[in-house]
Amino acid sequence: MSFRIQPQPPARPNRCQLFGPGSRPAIFEKMAGAEADVINLDLEDSVAPDDKAEARKNIVQAIGDIDWGGKYLSVRINGLDTPYWYRDVVELLENAGDRLDQIMIPKAGNAADIYAVDALVTAVEAATGRTKPISFEAIIETAAGLVNVNEIAAASPRMQALSLGAADYAASMGMATTGIGGTQENYYMLHGDQQHWGDPWHMVSTAIVAACRTHGLLPVDGPFGDFSDPDGYRAQARRSATLGMVGKWAIHPKQVALANEVFTPSDAAVAEAREILAAMEEAKARGEGAAVYKGRLVDIASIRQAEVIVKQAEMIAGS
Ligand code: COA
Ligand code: MG
Repeated sequence: MSFRIQPQPPARPNRCQLFGPGSRPAIFEKMAGAEADVINLDLEDSVAPDDKAEARKNIVQAIGDIDWGGKYLSVRINGLDTPYWYRDVVELLENAGDRLDQIMIPKAGNAADIYAVDALVTAVEAATGRTKPISFEAIIETAAGLVNVNEIAAASPRMQALSLGAADYAASMGMATTGIGGTQENYYMLHGDQQHWGDPWHMVSTAIVAACRTHGLLPVDGPFGDFSDPDGYRAQARRSATLGMVGKWAIHPKQVALANEVFTPSDAAVAEAREILAAMEEAKARGEGAAVYKGRLVDIASIRQAEVIVKQAEMIAGS
């Protein structure tokens, strides 16, 4: 129990983050036209080492030239274990216009990683007279990132979101899989001769959600590699939404509608949440803290649960 009030995350929709390589400028216009709430132009792992310099130029130009509409515009820089990241930050912030909203920091391992980028960003912002502060999203995708997720979430007032990066996370943890998210065929229990699949991403997802909710950040599920498997994507996204995440990455345009579908509260869910709120209003008028709704208990905690759904729906509708 704490007397502190849990901080609210940024009030902007973050149902889908659409990624595209900075070395492939031909798709930038298509990204801008997609229905994703967030655009992530990538300088990191989808860009080959020899193309990093060109990708920076492409991105700087595209930030100014393309009409990104109301989308939240983010650029993923390279990791702090590479020779590229400082130039990513400096060239972006010295040359890209104010339309840039966010820098995404991959493979964050501790609060000092965020501090290092913050120090550089703060210096370049001051030197160039940028007036709109750049926000940060970090990716939790290493063993250290999981162990230190709470301090990473708290590391800077610039922090707005944390994503789970399933592929690098699996590699860092030494997991026996090459799958990027989703069901892993060897992760099951046997009951008699029946296999029951578990979710190997559950623990890190919940750790991310808890750190984000504690510090007022948006928890986001990362990539689902098999873009030819919409049912698998939907199942993964529904599990993440159930755990408290607000959105998921799309690494192919096909996945954008799937993310929007799962992370927009359905009309039925909103109607039920409003009915629960109404049932609790009636209970309050009777001087009672608990009531029966469709044969099940609802009480004052149910108000808080229902408000999550109603507020999310209102925020998305109002954006
Ligand atoms: N955003 C917007 N449009 C995209 C896109 C993206 N990320 N990826 C592909 N498209 C476009 C293609 O240009 C093509 O357009 P067209 O119909 O006008 O020709 C259409 O969508 C279908 O593309 P498709 O042929 O199915 O895919 P591809 O072979 O061109 O590319 C990938 C497949 C996976 C290489 C590509 O989607 C990609 O690079 N994704 C992002 C990878 C990334 O950023 N990874 C880092 C985060 S994990
Ligand atoms: Mg990664």
